[in-house]
Amino acid sequence: MIPCLRLASAWAIRLAHRFYRTSAGAALFKVMSTIRIAIAGVGNCASSLVQGISHYRAVRGSDQQDIGLMHPVLGGWRVDDIEVVAAFDIDARKVGRPLEEALFALPNNTKVFCAKLDRSGVTVQMGEIHDGVASHMADYPPHQRFEPASAKPVNVVQVLRESGAEILVSYMPVGSQLATEWYAQAALDAGVAFVNCVPCFVVSDPKWAAKFKAKGLPCVGDDIKAQVGATITHRTLARLFDDRGAKISSTYQLNTGGNTDFLNMLNRERLSSKKISKTEAVQSQLDVPLPADQIHIGPSDFVPFLKDNKVCFIRVEAQGFGGVPLNMELRLSVEDSPNSAAVVVDAIRACKLAKDAGYAGPLEVASAWCMKHPPKQMPDRDAKLALEEFVSEAQAKIRASGKVSTTR
Ligand SMILES: NC(=O)c1ccc[n+]([C@@H]2O[C@H](COP(=O)([O-])OP(=O)(O)OC[C@H]3O[C@@H](n4cnc5c(N)ncnc54)[C@H](O)[C@@H]3O)[C@@H](O)[C@H]2O)c1
Repeated sequence: MIPCLRLASAWAIRLAHRFYRTSAGAALFKVMSTIRIAIAGVGNCASSLVQGISHYRAVRGSDQQDIGLMHPVLGGWRVDDIEVVAAFDIDARKVGRPLEEALFALPNNTKVFCAKLDRSGVTVQMGEIHDGVASHMADYPPHQRFEPASAKPVNVVQVLRESGAEILVSYMPVGSQLATEWYAQAALDAGVAFVNCVPCFVVSDPKWAAKFKAKGLPCVGDDIKAQVGATITHRTLARLFDDRGAKISSTYQLNTGGNTDFLNMLNRERLSSKKISKTEAVQSQLDVPLPADQIHIGPSDFVPFLKDNKVCFIRVEAQGFGGVPLNMELRLSVEDSPNSAAVVVDAIRACKLAKDAGYAGPLEVASAWCMKHPPKQMPDRDAKLALEEFVSEAQAKIRASGKVSTTR
């Protein structure tokens, strides 16, 4: 290198280092090196997600770093590249508290696998309640139910804008169609992408899908399909029977648990979309769907001492060779919320890549991979391969646009 060029490049590097040491520089560097999310609903699922971010940061570089992940790296992003920049809830034990405290506040009762959370500087802010709190919860003790705060709701759109959030992740309780739509609209108004983990249909509703498309924002939904949960297990069994030529005549899936999600689901009126979501997820894997009265899928009871441990019972009855009957019984016991966080981290990273690559509207492939009720169902193996193809395409698009700073 000729001496004046060498001098100029050394000077540029020194300047960059000096800028990075300023708070504006550090903030800019941070902005470019994380996936900034906001969370609506600081419940058990949010707790597992945030614990996961700190956990995978702590074990990075060790032989633990890939354990429990479907994609340790997705499009260049690791789980600990996710950063929470805003959070909303309505419970008096969470609103106004630092996120790291609120995540462990009652009635949250999921397993703590990472007690030492990295400080985010985020305070949980009051959202709009709408239909977020089921009336029957009042019949249960405070440590099991939501306790609505009396604080005035903040301007969620403004908070989203000021926080620099790129994606809003919705964890509204089952049956909160109004609240889910309200946060979806806030995401649209603030210009942020949307990941809907809730069994209330937004991303799979063509009306909402069109709104996200028109705004140039990607969205993934609806209703997270857990890592090794009841749905994926039941889908896999249904495919197995079909692929092996055994004709399923009837099947059920009964679920029990002791978290607020199960308490909330005791109100059968809040369950219609959850039942549709879970039933369609299994029916879609059969070449010929079962008659409605030969398939029963749903939560069955709230068993408080189970806490966040979900116990699921699946039975499949079928006819094999020569029409001879066979049946299978399966019992699955799994911690509910980490099971969902393992999948949300894929949805968030796919959404970030899509946003940077300029995709808008429902991400069909990411939704088919991550969600029970996507706009388009796919066999799970096909969805995994299609997701990986989508990620490569998005990365190529980002590189071609020269926008390399927001992806690695
Ligand atoms: N755990 C899983 O594997 C799984 C799988 C699929 C779907 N889901 C769905 O994810 C959602 C979240 O599950 P969870 O276990 O975290 O529930 P949760 O009950 O632990 O948390 C919900 C949180 O939302 C808050 N909330 C209620 N109304 C609100 C509002 N209007 N604005 C802001 N916050 C509000 C509550 O105070 C609570 O903190 C549920 O709809 C559940 O069905 C979970």
